[in-house]
Amino acid sequence: MTALGTLVSGIAHEINNPNNFIMFNSKMMLDLWKGFSEVLDRVYETEGDFEVENLPYSVLREDIPKLLEGIAGGSERIKKIVHELKSFSKGDTENMEDIINVEDVVTSAVKILNQHILKYTSDFSTDIIKPVPNVKGNRQKMEQVLINLILNALEALPDKNGSVRLLCTSDENGNLKICVSDTGVGIPGDIIRRITEPFFTTKLKDGGTGLGLSIVYTYVKEHKGELDFASEPEKGTTVTVTFPAQG
Ligand SMILES: Nc1ncnc2c1ncn2[C@@H]1O[C@H](COP(=O)(O)OP(=O)(O)O)[C@@H](O)[C@H]1O
Ligand SMILES: [Mg+2]
Repeated sequence: MTALGTLVSGIAHEINNPNNFIMFNSKMMLDLWKGFSEVLDRVYETEGDFEVENLPYSVLREDIPKLLEGIAGGSERIKKIVHELKSFSKGDTENMEDIINVEDVVTSAVKILNQHILKYTSDFSTDIIKPVPNVKGNRQKMEQVLINLILNALEALPDKNGSVRLLCTSDENGNLKICVSDTGVGIPGDIIRRITEPFFTTKLKDGGTGLGLSIVYTYVKEHKGELDFASEPEKGTTVTVTFPAQG
């Protein structure tokens, strides 16, 4: 593991432990609050409104669950980021000597995402126009690139009628070209240059971490590949990754 990988995985571990307390305790407080509020509601009904720390109970009874849900939600987000950082830094990351068969990687990425695909679209297809070259590098990372790109494409779809297509070909120089196209919301021109930044996300409310494309970018560069985005708002997006053919 590289020095940065060791550092990231150490930090991820250290954050995980206290975060587990926050998550567990906030959820427990939320359950306990339900019990408390039943008792307090009875006081409220018989004796009228009363104050706690200068705030009326009638307001607090609405706010307290929201505050506790806010803590639990924030903690879920930390958990997700830590999980992604861990998977980014773990495993067989140094090895760049695998001879990767693209068909195998596509098959396993699609298999891993099967449930997501069924959830987001009824029109998903993959097309491998042979012969496609093998690529030299790290199989796990290549699979992660495909997974992240397919996930983003699925998440961009407005409903299940939208489509996602994965196309593998070789380009005019004989390099491997993978295109992931969707008919989703598209990417506005003013943010397209920011989307590979770590933690940049427009999906904060839906649990986005903004780490997917920064990982894709890092992995593609490690394979000496190229990453390109073509997008039209409301029409869709095509992400093209080119990997140099092996040898
Ligand atoms: N296929 C796509 N269609 C529309 N927007 C996209 C697509 N792929 C990426 N994006 C934009 O790029 C941002 C960053 O993507 P990513 O790094 O994977 O983080 P996340 O998916 O967690 O938000 C997304 O929040 C979204 O705004
Ligand atoms: Mg993503």
